[in-house]
Formats: sequence, C-alpha cells, structure tokens
Amino acid sequence: MRIIRTIDGIRTAVTEARAARRSVGLVPTMGAFHDGHLSLMRAARADNDLVVVSLFVNPTQFGPSEDLAAYPRDEARDAALAEQQGVDILFAPEPAEIYPDGFATSIHVSGITEVLDGASRGAFHFDGVATVVAKLFGIVAPDIAYFGQKDAQQVMVVRQVVRDLNLPVRIEACPIVREPDGLAMSSRNVYLDADARQQATALNRALDAASDLHVAGERDAATILEAARRVLLHAGIRPDYLELRSNDDLTPLEHVDRDALLAVAARVGAARLIDNHILTTRDERGTR
Ligand code: PAF
Repeated sequence: MRIIRTIDGIRTAVTEARAARRSVGLVPTMGAFHDGHLSLMRAARADNDLVVVSLFVNPTQFGPSEDLAAYPRDEARDAALAEQQGVDILFAPEPAEIYPDGFATSIHVSGITEVLDGASRGAFHFDGVATVVAKLFGIVAPDIAYFGQKDAQQVMVVRQVVRDLNLPVRIEACPIVREPDGLAMSSRNVYLDADARQQATALNRALDAASDLHVAGERDAATILEAARRVLLHAGIRPDYLELRSNDDLTPLEHVDRDALLAVAARVGAARLIDNHILTTRDERGTR
C-alpha cells in the first residue's frame, strides 16, 4: 500500500489506473479506524480494481467547542489496518494541501441539513462535510464512494451534493457495524470510560425498543419515540435529539406511513454519540 500526501501524487496514481481501465473506489475517512471503516474498505475492495482510502481530519466540520484537537489520530495503526484490508493507496494530506491560502469556497446544502445534526451541531458541520467530500471527489474522481450508514444524514447530504452538482460518482451506504452489545462502532467510543461505555449501550437499546413497537404494528410517532425515550431516561441519558423523520427527505413524521429514520444523538460521558435505525414498511423488520 502506498501512502500519498499530495493532490498531484494521487492524481497521477488515479490517472495511471484509469489509463489501464481500472475502476476506482474511494473510502473517505477521518482515521481512527474501527470495524465500521474496515467494512467499507472490504466493500470497496470487492467492487473496484483500485481502492483509495482518504485519511483527513477535516477541520471545517468541527465547531470551536468540539473535539478537533482531541480527535484520535494514529496514522501508523490506521495504515497497517488499511493495508490488511487490501487497500492500494492511503491518501493522507496535510490541512494546507486541502485548504491552501486563499481557499474560499463552501458548499451549502439547504433543507436536509437544517435538522438533526445540522440543528444540534450547527450549519457549519454539513457545509464542512459537503465541501471536503466534493473536493475529495474532484481529487480522486472515484467511480464509487463508500460511507457508513451510522452517519445517515451525512449520506443524504452527500447524495444531494452528487445529484445537484451532477458528480459522476455512485454513493454506497454500508450497514452500521455494532459491538456485540449493540453499541454502534465510532471513533469517538475511545472517549468513553467504563461507566460511560456501559451507559452508551442504552442508545441502541432505546432504538430497539422503538423498532420493536414499530414491528408490532405501532405507527404513531410519539408513541414509538416515547418507548425509546424511556430507555434513555432510565439510563440517565438526555438526548440532544431523538426523532423520527422520513428517510427520503427528513420531514418530520407524526404517523409512520413510509420508511423512517429513527435517529438519536446524545452526550454520554466525554463523547457525543449518534445512532439510528431505519424503520421500513417494505418488510416487517427494521434495519439495525
Ligand atoms: O464520516 C467521516 O469520517 C467524515 O465526515 C468524512 C465523510 C470523511 C468527511 O470528512
């Protein structure tokens, strides 16, 4: 596996692959790899001739009171893990390579960014994500890019950017990977001490309680959400948000008569965690 730090370098490598008619898959990441990231890399490996993983802790998607400085970084460990998954190139640029002096563009997606994490963290967050992802697509020009469904709203924002800007890339959303006790894997789980780690299991248990009600036929959103809220409160967790929204456009739902995103965010110990289930009307089981 090659580690490339410059835009010129990655462009040369991708141009060579294209000349040899090789397909290119991209897994955009901020490092601190866990099994969720590795599952994206394996999906990219199965589908593409050349697999590029970008490792860039994007400063513009962090707010001033967020964890940019503390965000876990261990490039040597990440590189070893990526290599084990058969990744061909780790693209690990410095911030100045991505945001040189004079950088002045920001991509803003309206509507779907104004709720859930966009409302809770602030509009800057998805502006930062949309801009860096569009840049990565411009730099790497992948055929397919892979994202984790844990960041369900991020996937929707990226799909919207791709649609609106006619970017020639297919977006693949891969299932949430969970610990044996149900906690969704996240780079931020390293912030949890033993008590908080235990407390954090309540997020998925809350989503399970709500999903079970939905599977049993309940369609009233307030009733479904109340089941989840009870589990969170019992664990001493006050969510930033706990909401049921349409899985197409994030409009709020009072009655769950279509595929719905059941999403939660909460501060648990030193970490702010998010998780979600899709409540689907196509079959009787939610996607967990
Ligand atoms: O999900 C992430 O790790 C980041 O938001 C992403 C997509 C790599 C953009 O910085």
